[in-house]
Amino acid sequence: MSRRLDERREAYQRYKRDVNERGKPFYPYAMFHDTVMSLVVVSVIAALAVIWKLTAEEEPDASGALGVLYGEEADPGTTNFIPRPDWYFYFLFYLLRIFKWPDSVILGTVGVPTIALMLLLALPFIDLRRERKLLRRPVAIVAAILTVVSMGVLTYKGATARESLGTEAVLAVPEWVEQQQLPQEAEAGARLFAESSCLNCHIYLGSGAANLGAPELTEIGASNKGVDYFRQYVANPAKFGNQRMPPFQGLGDENLRNIGIFLDASKGPK
Ligand code: HEC
Repeated sequence: MSRRLDERREAYQRYKRDVNERGKPFYPYAMFHDTVMSLVVVSVIAALAVIWKLTAEEEPDASGALGVLYGEEADPGTTNFIPRPDWYFYFLFYLLRIFKWPDSVILGTVGVPTIALMLLLALPFIDLRRERKLLRRPVAIVAAILTVVSMGVLTYKGATARESLGTEAVLAVPEWVEQQQLPQEAEAGARLFAESSCLNCHIYLGSGAANLGAPELTEIGASNKGVDYFRQYVANPAKFGNQRMPPFQGLGDENLRNIGIFLDASKGPK
C-alpha cells in the first residue's frame, strides 16, 4: 500500500515539474484557443443558416441545398401521427419499450441512469492505478465495449421498431373474432382497425372511446351497407358529409378493403 502511495506521490511531483518547465498558463493561452475555436463554430453555423435560406429561396419549391425552407403546416387535430425521436435518442426510445409501464419504468428511467452516473463519479476513487496501457485494463475495456455495443444494438432496434399504436386493442382482436364470430377473411381488417386509431373516436365491443359524436361500430355491419360502402366511407368520410372523421386514404386500397370486410362482418355479438 505504501509503495503505491509513494509511486503516486512521485508521479505527482513529476507532473508539477513538467508543468513548471514546459507548461503554459491558462490565461492567455488556453483562453485564446477557446475563443478562436468558438468563433469558428459560430461562423460555420451562421454560414450554414445563410446557405439554407438563400438556396431555398431561389428554388420554386423552396427546397434548397440544405433542405426545405418550411415543412408542411402542423395539424393539431391529427389522430394518426406517430411521434418518433431523433436518431440519437433511439437507444433511449427503445429502452422505454423494454421497461414496461408501470412495473419497471422507474427502474429504467431513474434507477439505471442514477446507478451509471454514481459509478462514473466514483470511478476516480475506485480505479487508483496509474496504468494507461489498454491491454492491461481489461475491466475498463470490456465495460467500454459492452456500453458501445449495447447502445449500438438499442439504436438499431429503436430505428427498426414497428410502431405499436393500439397494441392493447390488437390484443383484443381474438376476442372480437370469437364474440362476433368473424370469418377468417375479416381478421386482417380487425387488426388494422385496432392499429389505425379508429378506437380514438369509436367504441368497438367495449374497446376504445366515444369522441366527436362517433357511433359505436360493434354492429355497424348489421346495416348491410356492404364492403364497398365502408371502404369508400373510411377512405374519404368528407364525401359522405362527415367532416369530423379524418380520411384514411393513405392506408391503401387493399387495407381499406380489409377494413371494409371487417366492418361489414361486424353484426353484433351472437
Ligand atoms: C377523429 C375521430 C374519428 C376517427 C379517428 C375515426 N372516425 Fe369514424 N366516424 C367519426 C365520426 C364523428 C363519425 C360520425 C359521422 C356522422 O355521424 O356523420 C364516424 C363515422 C364512421 C362510420 C359510420 C358510417 C355510417 O354509415 O354510419 C364508420 C363505418 C367509421 N366511422 C369507420 C371508421 C374507421 C374504420 C376508422 C379507422 C380507420 C375511423 N372511423 C376513425 C369519427 C372518427
